Amino acid sequence: MCLLTEENRGVDLTSTPEWRRLLALGTPPPLRELFASDPDRARRYRFGCADLTVDLSKNWLTDDILRALVDVADASALSERRTAMFAGERINSTEDRAVLHVALRLPRASSLIVDGHDVVPDIHRVLDRMSAFADAVRDGTHLGHTGKPIEVVVNIGIGGSDLGPAMVYDALHRFADGPRCRFVSNVDGADIAGALAGLDPETTLFVVCSKTFTTIETLTNARTARDWLVGRLGDDQAVSRHFVAVSTDAAAVGAFGIDPQNMFGFWDWVGGRYSVDSAVGLSVMLAIGPARFGQFLSGFHSVDKDFVSVPHAQNAAVVMALLGMWYSNVHGAQTKAVLPYSHNLRRFPAYLQQLDMESNGKTVGLDGRAVATTTGPVVWGEPGTNGQHAFYQLLHQGSWLIPCDFIGFARPGAGPQHHHDLLMSNLFAQAEALAFGRTPAEVAAEGVPEQQIDHRVFLGNRPSTMILADELSPKVLGELIALYEHIVFVQGAIWGINPFDQWGVELGKVLANRITPELVDASAVPAHDPSTNALIAWYRARRSG
Ligand code: F6P
Repeated sequence: MCLLTEENRGVDLTSTPEWRRLLALGTPPPLRELFASDPDRARRYRFGCADLTVDLSKNWLTDDILRALVDVADASALSERRTAMFAGERINSTEDRAVLHVALRLPRASSLIVDGHDVVPDIHRVLDRMSAFADAVRDGTHLGHTGKPIEVVVNIGIGGSDLGPAMVYDALHRFADGPRCRFVSNVDGADIAGALAGLDPETTLFVVCSKTFTTIETLTNARTARDWLVGRLGDDQAVSRHFVAVSTDAAAVGAFGIDPQNMFGFWDWVGGRYSVDSAVGLSVMLAIGPARFGQFLSGFHSVDKDFVSVPHAQNAAVVMALLGMWYSNVHGAQTKAVLPYSHNLRRFPAYLQQLDMESNGKTVGLDGRAVATTTGPVVWGEPGTNGQHAFYQLLHQGSWLIPCDFIGFARPGAGPQHHHDLLMSNLFAQAEALAFGRTPAEVAAEGVPEQQIDHRVFLGNRPSTMILADELSPKVLGELIALYEHIVFVQGAIWGINPFDQWGVELGKVLANRITPELVDASAVPAHDPSTNALIAWYRARRSG
């Protein structure tokens, strides 16, 4: 759906000569032909980005297309907005905020002046406090209320205050030598009940993570956790040894009952979905230790440096973003699959869903008018090889164009080598099958009966990108996240939207706040549409308690 009409046409990249030149190039020949005529494309379209190798050769890419895509980027506000972001300008215009997740990973010796103030010492002050606290928990200096060491950390948060640390903890758990972590996000009580099951309150630390400290799910779960702790330890003084907060709002943390001394801060210029490298990563740091957390941050920073310095035509984030834009805007791709061949990255697609869809799922441009094209895709995925036995049928023979990002590593995260060899052979095989398919003649040559041939043909020419690294280390994970952050940024800049607000989540919250009392108060008269009123009545008639 595109909300554009002639009357409300806003930022319109499609009216530029660069866009028309791109369109005029049409669709390149199929990948089989492209590889046959230029086997060297495997080398030429292999990009480096810090420790990542990005093989773009199985995309619908030719030198002409690449040049035309880069011209579109150069005609857009991309360079200007990138410079402004890295300089701390208030590019989140609808919230009048700077966007400085890139500052969170700046080395201690750097400086970044925002509104006359150097933010780098502030960032490192928080990192130092986090490190001191993590060390104290990990070496048993920080004990629970009854004098026992902390064994389990429960992170309570949602959205960016959950998806980032939960994904990173899973991804890096083989580096974890501190307390085990559990994550609670859903307001469905089953989540916290499951997380608390079997825990010993004397050895449990809660990290209540919320940028705003107003999020109903997080505050509800945190209250339940506090009641559980105080109820079992029989002393509300226990809260100070068992609860810490991560937030931008010390007053709200204090009002909740957590001493602001036990709060690790960050700033309004860090968006929730861009916050895992801020204090929001505290539970990760508790698990893997400050040194490895530092390596994680250095990975982000390496990619940031590439992103600002590498020319657009060789810049992995820029070219991946441009291809994504082109598949979507010109070729009608509505979704993008992210397929990590790493079980430890199983939460990565969910993490990217928030990063991409909450950032670029918009139809209003920076100028307040409808954008001219479709914007961010639906992002989805599952780890390989599991997905192969579920939805790959559609990827190979379905009717949709679904560009795929594959992710794999030379060395296994865990387990025997032969498992890893199998995993990687499947990874390479899937990209090969998508790109080159199997022709009717090839199928017939295998002796397949005539009436089955059409069913067993693979059309191929399905684009994919292969992202590889030696191993899933803290640094490489930081690089991977930063790469996708910048892809989202580039697309937002080209589409002329603000990737850093999320007004689209507000209406549902407001309505839920109205509906909550209507569910529990039998005298309340629901005042919604007839369908919603009927749903509320249905629930009230059956509600337990
Ligand atoms: O509702 C969306 C959202 O605002 C996300 O952007 C954010 O990551 C999440 O809620 C949690 O917000 P907070 O960290 O303030 O609790």
